[in-house]
Amino acid sequence: MEDVIAIDGPAGAGKSTVARLLAARLSYARLDTGAMYRGVAYLALKRGVDFQNPAALAALAAAVRIEVAFRGAEMELRMDGEILNDQIRAPEVSERVKAVAACEGVRTVLVPAQRRLGAGHRVVCEGRDIGTVVFPDARKKFYLTASLEERARRRASELRGRGVDQPLDDVRASIRERDAMDAARRMGPLVVAPDAVVIDSTGVPIEQVVETLHRLC
Ligand code: DC
Repeated sequence: MEDVIAIDGPAGAGKSTVARLLAARLSYARLDTGAMYRGVAYLALKRGVDFQNPAALAALAAAVRIEVAFRGAEMELRMDGEILNDQIRAPEVSERVKAVAACEGVRTVLVPAQRRLGAGHRVVCEGRDIGTVVFPDARKKFYLTASLEERARRRASELRGRGVDQPLDDVRASIRERDAMDAARRMGPLVVAPDAVVIDSTGVPIEQVVETLHRLC
């Protein structure tokens, strides 16, 4: 039986950092489901799949071999044998992943894959629909959020750390657009699960956020 701690929330709310630190504290694995949507977008770009064609995106997701290795709080994701790291965080992938996340045929493939990957593990699982769709029976559910301005600043500085200089205005616009699409989609939209604890991390140091979650686990 798996033991799941779900962390959902909008882009740039600090989910990945918090999930990583919380998983390390609890000695749990970490499953980053956003990386899987990004991986499909990355492969679609690389293979010239038309992002306007949901059937083609769904066919790609269904055909690709997805493997995950849990190494402490780190997750190593492979798709068709390629280890996916920084390449799935590039702006051109972030720009296109929303079409992948909005594609119901892709979600139909990735949601069961996420359940399979979590099976039998103690896992901190982060995404948008973890507490509502993927693991509705999660032992603990958190919805992590922060103001748009703070999320944009965090995302811009994270990108700078990886050598990508994107103006704050562009990052803010891209996050705003992604939030709107995440909230509006029919399948697995970004909503707060009724039994989730909502944590607003605006102006709160990340260590303190982790401390709060840890206390509640
Ligand atoms: O968390 P992230 O920025 O890496 O997520 C990438 C994209 O995937 C983003 O557009 C939201 C989407 N996503 C989703 O629809 N469902 C999830 N469980 C995780 C991510």
